[in-house]
Amino acid sequence: MIRLDKYLSDAGLASRRELKDLLKAGAVTVNGKPVADGAAKVDPESDRVCFHGEPVEGPRRVVLLLHKPAGFVTSTEDPRDRTVMELIPAAFLRQKVVPVGRLDKETEGLLLFTNDGDLAHRLISPKHGVEKRYYARHEGTASAEDVEAFAAGLTLKDGTLCRPAVLRPLGPGESEITVTEGKYHQVRRMMAARGLPVVYLRREQEGSLSLDGLALGETRELTEAEIAAL
Ligand code: URA
Repeated sequence: MIRLDKYLSDAGLASRRELKDLLKAGAVTVNGKPVADGAAKVDPESDRVCFHGEPVEGPRRVVLLLHKPAGFVTSTEDPRDRTVMELIPAAFLRQKVVPVGRLDKETEGLLLFTNDGDLAHRLISPKHGVEKRYYARHEGTASAEDVEAFAAGLTLKDGTLCRPAVLRPLGPGESEITVTEGKYHQVRRMMAARGLPVVYLRREQEGSLSLDGLALGETRELTEAEIAAL
């Protein structure tokens, strides 16, 4: 049994404070009867909770895709910078989503959020080798030797060994990079190790997911089918 107000706020309906007024106004029924007291206990398994007549789902798994703009740090709090949490609609914040992995402050592109810790772990863990594809603009032009060095597994300037990765030169100063791990500043450091410093970076794909025309700064919730395909 859990408190009715907690059940409703976990479902992302409204904040605990907003709920007080909604409850008072009779917007919430439990098994067909209006309940005004947020402290009332409900059984999420057997009680039927409705809001304005519509059944309220209990806490559920949420996976979001954000098209992250530059200038936001991937963190839930930061003393100086704006964080990616500012870009997440309030209803999803109430579902307690957090970023899966990270993108640098200046990197744009696909960033996932979820409230499912196991799923987050699977997506981040290099053991599962989820492919992440980036588009980079950089100084210089990637050569066949650079492509080979990526394929062989690069050694970064500090001695860190990288897994084999795919570098696909697109033209002067432009490349696509696909990696299966997520070390700190990985793509920027891999490119720097080949004398190709990155000036712009965007993650375009992660596993089966891509940005698919999602506007910069926008989020969209994944369907169960998309989550299953992850
Ligand atoms: N590699 C980087 O260097 N930065 C990112 O944000 C992601 C991958």
